[in-house]
Parts: sequence; structure tokens; C-alpha cells
Amino acid sequence: MSCHKSYITTPIYYVNDVPHIGHAYTTIIADTLARYARLINQDTFFLTGTDEHGQKIEEASRKRGKPTQEYADEISAKFRNLWDQFDISYDRFIRTTDSDHIKGVQKAFTVMYQNGDIYKDKYRGHYCISCETFFPETQLVGGEFCPDCGKPTSIVEEESYFFRLSKYQDRLLKWYRDNPNSILPKSKRNEIIRFVEGGLNDLSITRTSFDWGIKLPKEFNEPKHVIYVWLDALMNYITALGYGTDEANMDFWPARVHLIGKDILRFHAIYWPAFLMSLELPLPKHIGAHGWWTRNGEKMSKSKGNVVNPKEVADAYGLENFRYFMLREVPFGGDGDFSQRALIDRINSDLGNDLGNLLNRLIGMSGKYFNGLVESNLIDKFYQKELDEVNSSISKLEPMIFELQLHKYLEELWRPLTIANRAIDRYQPWSMIKEGKRDEVMALNGLIATILAKVSLMLHAVMPKTTKIIANALGFEINPKTFQTIIREDGKLAPFRTQRREPLFPRIEKELLEEKKPEIEEREVKEESNNITPISIDKFFETSLKIGTVVDAKEIKKSKKLLLLQVDIGEDRPRQIVAGIKEWYSVEDILNRQVCVVSNLKPAKLMGFKSEGMLLGAKDSSGFSLITVEKPKANGTPIR
Ligand code: MSP
Repeated sequence: MSCHKSYITTPIYYVNDVPHIGHAYTTIIADTLARYARLINQDTFFLTGTDEHGQKIEEASRKRGKPTQEYADEISAKFRNLWDQFDISYDRFIRTTDSDHIKGVQKAFTVMYQNGDIYKDKYRGHYCISCETFFPETQLVGGEFCPDCGKPTSIVEEESYFFRLSKYQDRLLKWYRDNPNSILPKSKRNEIIRFVEGGLNDLSITRTSFDWGIKLPKEFNEPKHVIYVWLDALMNYITALGYGTDEANMDFWPARVHLIGKDILRFHAIYWPAFLMSLELPLPKHIGAHGWWTRNGEKMSKSKGNVVNPKEVADAYGLENFRYFMLREVPFGGDGDFSQRALIDRINSDLGNDLGNLLNRLIGMSGKYFNGLVESNLIDKFYQKELDEVNSSISKLEPMIFELQLHKYLEELWRPLTIANRAIDRYQPWSMIKEGKRDEVMALNGLIATILAKVSLMLHAVMPKTTKIIANALGFEINPKTFQTIIREDGKLAPFRTQRREPLFPRIEKELLEEKKPEIEEREVKEESNNITPISIDKFFETSLKIGTVVDAKEIKKSKKLLLLQVDIGEDRPRQIVAGIKEWYSVEDILNRQVCVVSNLKPAKLMGFKSEGMLLGAKDSSGFSLITVEKPKANGTPIR
């Protein structure tokens, strides 16, 4: 290997949400790479952690009525615990509230300033809190909504420090072009090139509208400014190695790969290398952007109640089976769908039939014919062709893993298993034994054992514990030394004896987890946290909202809640609307008031009266208030 140090990172996760399958996916890919790097004896540093500053987190904690640090501690611990339960082999779990990170970010700010890349100016723009990003007006959807997440943006005007991103446009383009594998998959690199060619604006990198962030270094004497959360967050990749504090681990830099989801590629592929150029540090070798997970073909959201909880899945189906599934199921960069059926198929077919069963066949044959003994010394005499094919497959694997082609890696890794299973069917050891060809049968068993040994070594990074069990059954241990001898030097397994054992992948007949219905509790959390599923602007305008005037109002005698209203919404006759507002509005209160009407609802019957619309209002613990207009508007005026 040309590269002896391997620094592998995940994004640091926002603490406004609990871990879900998307987070688990990134982390598991990174863990796989880190384990592989260690197995081939590279000096490896694997970083993950949590991103805890910014307005989004401040708001989330306020909504839950907790001090922000306490709230961040709580959610950060959930991530860390889950990764511990998942045996994620991180070397550091960084938090952006760690004091060495804070110092490192301040140091970076100072260096970038000294290098002439930071200046002060005024900023006015449309800001999306959810994405913690400013967007130019031209990119907004419907003049107001965030082009990335669909939520409304707000206009923010503030004094700000800026980073001279525009200055780096040409150097960035040169970097992408000179390094075809800088951004993976390559299609994403082309997208980034096109974007950067379109021109880069300088980037606002401080905020004064809230407090929850890293302050500028003291020398700046700017107590109102906090550092933009993305500058803060991206720096974690170097502060984790001690940048600006104890730099002992900085020799791990540059990163071998930053694993991220496609939604945060621009930050990583444009801002991050530009910041690094300004800091005069080398650029990462690869930035790998994976796709998005959906569930049974649908986007996951709390309101639909279909968010996949990785812990539940791992508990039900086995952590390592889940790891295998996620990596095998989706080409890196593409979107993937989680369904229990697909997971069960992978377990029963790839793992059970192809891998587990092969080990069983070996145990069965060696037990029956040789009292459990397996020797590998005669393989070359009878099965050289098969062995060559196996070795040719294995030799293709390593480049795939660091190019993040994990699904291809696993697909190719299954070829040796097919070769082994086919050899058994073809040579029929049960017939050979009857013909007295004991050497041939022993050599065949040796071939199967060798294939299982090679596969378990190459699969180890994906399924660490399972492969150790397989290795144990074959009388060897998985470690960098055996990797060297068995994979690199094509060494033979020492003779060993098999023993009967429970199947590794018991067949799963039916789905083990109930598909959840949306839970009330989850809906409440959603409303509370304002964590609304984005909809398109077109979807929003499917609701026809109009201004109307209440031209007549009567009580419905038998009802405590309902008033019968006639509302003029500019049509040839007023609409009759039955409104549940009697507890808060009398007939006199409501008469001649202008109201907001949902005008395209299907008519309904309430207490025998037809209702042809609905009024908008808001209710909290102090009661109900109709939404009205600030200045009179013509009846029928659309509300936008
Ligand atoms: N805090 C930033 C990252 C800063 S890195 C310097 C952030 N955090 S996040 O928690 O919102 O997202 C973290 C990762 O989870 C992203 O890589 C994102 O792509 C991934 N996923 C979130 N939902 C996902 C799916 N449904 N499917 C796959 N991955 C998704 O962004």
C-alpha cells in the first residue's frame, strides 16, 4: 500500500435528532474502512462525534425547555452509546463543545485572518435555520422557501466576517480536475465542478443573531460574534488531531476519506478544501458522498412513523447481518431502500445459503469421512484451477474498498463462495469417497476451508465477530499477520479438526419487526420541535386559502361549540360554514369580521348543517383566536 496512515472520518452528527439508519449507515461504512485499514496494518485513526453549536440546536433545546449544554450532552451521549453498542471502533468521539476543539477553531480563524482571507462587512440575506445556510434570492423556491429542505427562510441582516471563498475558485477547480478520485462517486465530482464553475461568493462566517457558538478569538474584541456553525463543524477534522492545541496526531492529516451523505457534499467539497488551502494544509484524499435511505420506498419522517431505528433492526436481525445488508444492498452514492423483506432475503440467501451452509458442508464432510480432520496440502494437485480463480477474485478487492465500492467488493467476494459451492456439486465428494478417492476429497475439503478462510479475512471488516467465529472453526485467528500470510502470500491453513456447531445464520421466515403506525407521541414531538416534513410549494398551494367576511352568524341551539356562519368569499353567494368557535366567539363578536377560509375542502355535514369551508385559527392554553387580516382585503383575495 502506498498510504501507511489512514485517517477516516464520519460527519459529526447534529444533536437535534436521535440516531437513525442514515447516521448508522455512514458510521458503519467508516467503521468498515477503519477495520480494514487496521487489518492491513495501517496506522489508523477513526473519528466520529457530534455537532453541537448553532441556532438549530439552540432552538431545539429551548423547545424542550432545557439548558442548551445539558440538552447537547444528552443527545450526544445517545450517539456515543449507540456507537458503543454497535462496536464502532472509533479512536475519538469529538464534540464541538470540547475545549480543545474550541481552541483549535479559534486558532484556525486567526490563521485564516492573518493570511488575508477574512474581512468584515454587512450581510443581508435569506437564511435557512434548518440547513444553517444563507441562500441567494435566485435560489429560493417561491421566493421564500429553502431550495434544500423546503422550509421557509427568514431575512437576516447582520454585521459579519466573511471568508474569501471567491479567491479559491480556480484552485478548487484545479484540485478537482487533477484528482479524479477526490470526490466519490465521480458523478458527484462533476456536479461540484459545474457548481464551482458557476462562480463562488464569499462566505459569511460569523453570526450575531444568537449566542450558542464559538466566540471569535479575544484579540478580535468582538463579543457579539460567534463562528458560523459549518466553519466550526468542518474544523473538527483537524482539531480532533490536535490542530491548534497538542498537535501530536497531526501526522494523520490529510484524511484518507471523509465519509458523508450527499446532502452535505457542497460544504465538504467546496468550503472545506478552501478553508484548508487558506490554512496551508494538504487536502483530503477522498470525499465520499453516499445516497439517501428510504423505507419501503418512502422518505422517512417522524410523522409517518417510518423512521428506521437502527438499534431495533440490529437487535432483531443481528448487528452484523444488518451491516452486511446495508453495505451490500446499495451501490455507494445511490439511494437505498430499507425493507425487512430485502434484509431477510440477504440473510437467508447470501449469508445463510452461500456462506453459512458452506461451512456446514465442510463440517459435515470432514466429520463423516475424516473424523473432522482438514488438510490443505493437496489442493494444488487437484484444484489449482479453482484456487487460481479464487485468488484472482480476491486480488481485485482491495482497490474497491478504498474507492468505496463496497457493494461491488461484497459481490466480488461472493464469487469464491460460488466457486466452492459449485465445486462440491460438480465433484460430488460422496461419490468420490465411494470410489476410494480419499485424497481428492481431502483436497476438496482443503479447498473449501481455504476459500472460507480467505473470505472470512476479507469479510472481517464488515462482519468482525461472525468472521472470527468462522476463523475459529477453521483453526486460525484473524489478525494482520494471518491476513499477510493467507491473503497476500497465499499461504496454506495448518491442518485442523472441525466440530459440529449451531448454524451461523438461522433461516428467518417472516418479518421480525412490526411495521409501526404513526404514534401520537411522535406527532406531538414533531409539532413541538417544529421538525416538519418539508413539502413542495406546489403541494402547499393545493390548499386554496381566501379572505372572506362573515355576513351572517347564528347559534346552533343544540350545540355548545358550533356557530352557523355565512361567509362571503367573493363568489356569487356566501359559503355556509359550521365553525366550532362558540366557546370563544359570540354572534356579535364574529359578525362582519374578516377571516381566513380554506375554500377547497370537501363539504361536510355537522349537526345536520352543510359546511362548505373552514376558518383558520390558533389555539393554545389561553384559548382560541381566529386568524384575521391586518388591513381590510377584498373578499376572495387569495392568501399566499
Ligand atoms: N452536522 C452536520 C455534519 C457536519 S460534518 C462537519 C450534519 N449532521 S446530520 O446529523 O444532519 O447528518 C449527518 C449525516 O447523516 C449526513 O451525512 C447525512 O447525509 C446522513 N443522513 C441523514 N439522513 C439520512 C438518510 N435518510 N439516509 C442516509 N443518510 C442520511 O449534516
